[in-house]
Amino acid sequence: MKRLKTIDWADDGVVIIDQTRLPGELLYRRIDDVEAMFHAIRELRVRGAPAIGIAAAFGCCLSIADFPEHGSAHDLLILLEKNGDFLADARPTAVNLVWAVNRMKKRARELARSSTIAAMKQGLHAEAVAILEEDRRMGRSIGEHGARLLSDVSSILTHCNAGGLATAEYGTALAPVYVAAEQGKVFTVYADETRPLLQGARITAFELQQAGIPVILMCDNMAATVMAQGKVQAAIVGADRIAANGDTANKIGTYGVALLAKAHRLPFYVAAPSSTFDLNCPTGKGIPIEEREAEEITCGFGKRTAPDNVAVFNPAFDVTPAELISAFVTERGVVRPPFTETIKKVVGGGRDGGGSLLIR
Ligand code: MRU
Repeated sequence: MKRLKTIDWADDGVVIIDQTRLPGELLYRRIDDVEAMFHAIRELRVRGAPAIGIAAAFGCCLSIADFPEHGSAHDLLILLEKNGDFLADARPTAVNLVWAVNRMKKRARELARSSTIAAMKQGLHAEAVAILEEDRRMGRSIGEHGARLLSDVSSILTHCNAGGLATAEYGTALAPVYVAAEQGKVFTVYADETRPLLQGARITAFELQQAGIPVILMCDNMAATVMAQGKVQAAIVGADRIAANGDTANKIGTYGVALLAKAHRLPFYVAAPSSTFDLNCPTGKGIPIEEREAEEITCGFGKRTAPDNVAVFNPAFDVTPAELISAFVTERGVVRPPFTETIKKVVGGGRDGGGSLLIR
């Protein structure tokens, strides 16, 4: 099955698929410095919670590449922390971004105790590659748990893009679809186009088509009809940040899909790696929501569709209350309510691998 490489390290730089150019052009863009990485994240050239975490980790490596070999470990640490904070500011909602930066800072502090500058740079590069490789494995594992969970389902609805292009390889919400396909089962995916930036139309439809998975594109306001007509048996989405009680921030419009799923008695699943859970955030009220430029709505993709100077509200994410979520699909298993207890058990053991309790 053809899967695209969203982001990778190559020849002392980072190569990303520029997602603002999809679906018309599959453009691989090289990023050589931390400012370029900041802008690539902010402008959604690389996007999706896990992918921007990986991008920030690589961005940290780029930001220390020119640090002199005869400099002090302490100065290198200060530089990495400063640049990490800069990258973490690129977008506020996805916790994976700050999670990856914190992980790079922690590794830098460990290395600074006893390493040469060259060894510190090498160790930090290895940490960024580990974040990417772990994401790949987590996606695969989410896919396996999700494929089992959805064994009685043949058509799903998804919102935005939580596929391979939002992660290192398999995606989260689309991972069960890819794993099932490897096992010989073919899902049909109804993809919300996802106003205003059309990640569903431009990215989900594109990557599923590339993979040979049946995909049916629809406008966001068609989801109720699709559910009412029995065309899907479940909805599954990704997440940008999941609070300790299960409230979940994801692309604007997700909350509406969850309400519609409840009204039609369909399960609503959220697929996410443990790096997307923020146990420091007790409820969704504490999740910062990114607001973006009015032009995304009034003049999307260069075509003016609203009068000049009209007031606009453009939050990029919303928060789905935990009670609308049937279960989370994580790399450690399927997590069911009561979420305050089960999330703590499954994710509380440490975000980067640890906790082993699987709840099905
Ligand atoms: O603004 P975007 O395109 O970065 O938003 C992406 C989403 O909302 C995804 O659903 C989420 O990050 C999960 S990606 C596995």
